[in-house]
Amino acid sequence: MARTLTLADLEPESLRGTPVLVRVDLNVPLTDGGEVADATRILASVPTIQHLMEAGARTLLVSHFGRPKDGPDPAFSLAPVARALSSELGVPVPLLTESPGSEELEETVQGMSEGEVALLENIRFHPGETKNDPGLVDALARLCEVFVGDAFGAVHRAHASTEGLPRRLRETGGRAVAGFLVERELRFLRGALESPEAPFVAVMGGAKISGKIDLIEAILPRVQRLLVGGAMANTFFRALGLDTGESLVEPDRVELAERLLERAGEAILLPVDCVVADRIDAEASIRVADRDQLSGSDRIADIGPRTRTLFAQEIARARTLLWNGPMGVFELAPFAEGTLHVARAMADAADDGATVVVGGGDSVAAAQAAGVSDRMSHISTGGGASLDLLAGKDLPGVDVLETEQVGGGPS
Ligand code: 3PG
Repeated sequence: MARTLTLADLEPESLRGTPVLVRVDLNVPLTDGGEVADATRILASVPTIQHLMEAGARTLLVSHFGRPKDGPDPAFSLAPVARALSSELGVPVPLLTESPGSEELEETVQGMSEGEVALLENIRFHPGETKNDPGLVDALARLCEVFVGDAFGAVHRAHASTEGLPRRLRETGGRAVAGFLVERELRFLRGALESPEAPFVAVMGGAKISGKIDLIEAILPRVQRLLVGGAMANTFFRALGLDTGESLVEPDRVELAERLLERAGEAILLPVDCVVADRIDAEASIRVADRDQLSGSDRIADIGPRTRTLFAQEIARARTLLWNGPMGVFELAPFAEGTLHVARAMADAADDGATVVVGGGDSVAAAQAAGVSDRMSHISTGGGASLDLLAGKDLPGVDVLETEQVGGGPS
């Protein structure tokens, strides 16, 4: 088996005065006033940055922010993030607006002192980033001797700063290792897949089967139970021949749902009752109905009370839990209870010693809304990246990093 090398594998003395480029994912939501609305990803990057500061490295942070289309655009500036990071670290974090490849940027980076940290302006202001352009890769490679990959949320992207740069550094004798956040994410997410303590129960929700089919396929053979909620369950209801009224269904996935049900047997557990509304609106008139009592204009908006209890029982007996996707339209208060109930049950299970891994933006937001995020074993900072990892797909930003062989297993 191969272990990805991390920052902890580099001698701290070797980092003193060394130019280190850290790819972080500081793609965080902003408030209407343009300040950081959720600092989770910033906080998650701090251990790696602090380690480098203490070791006396000259640390250049590189991140994307949003998806700017036409070069530099103030709406996509990392300036608010630099301010938030600076107050978190308690040191100034200058935002460097010079372009990679320019002498100005090279001089600024060379002029940094030991232990200093700076943040490069949004790397996606340069079209070469998403194209993994060799010119941009060269320009970044001239700024550092060591690369630390800590942008877990972007490891599924083969971009210049996530994949091209570490590859180039390794080819030219530099180092490329994982940061502490990526190390933690891999440990929990891969651990859940590769060596889960049984019973292993996955809870999946969200709107569509189509976006998560690879994940479902990868997870089914490993779990004792897969609890399905959210609109995704509606497509399974249709596969059972049930009337789903006007609920969101993916007609072209009904056959797939049928096959999954056949294959999984008892392992897939669907809701037995639902909260239904005449429209998806906080003011809508709502009622609770068994899943075989739907018709006409009914729209399923949440799992019902009997299902909440059933799901909570399954969650309580699990030793490993993976949660991805809400159980209903939890942004609207009348349809939030199913998701919040699952979040609380997950947190209780974690308190009882189960390993609870939460992945995907919506379930993370739900755990926060329920006030239980701190009690989970691990909350992933990656949306698409965590889905790809759990589905067993390649992660270019991880696969490119240095590894060492451990144990006698296959590499
Ligand atoms: C995310 O927010 O999921 C990551 O930062 C990746 O962003 P992207 O989907 O724009 O590459």
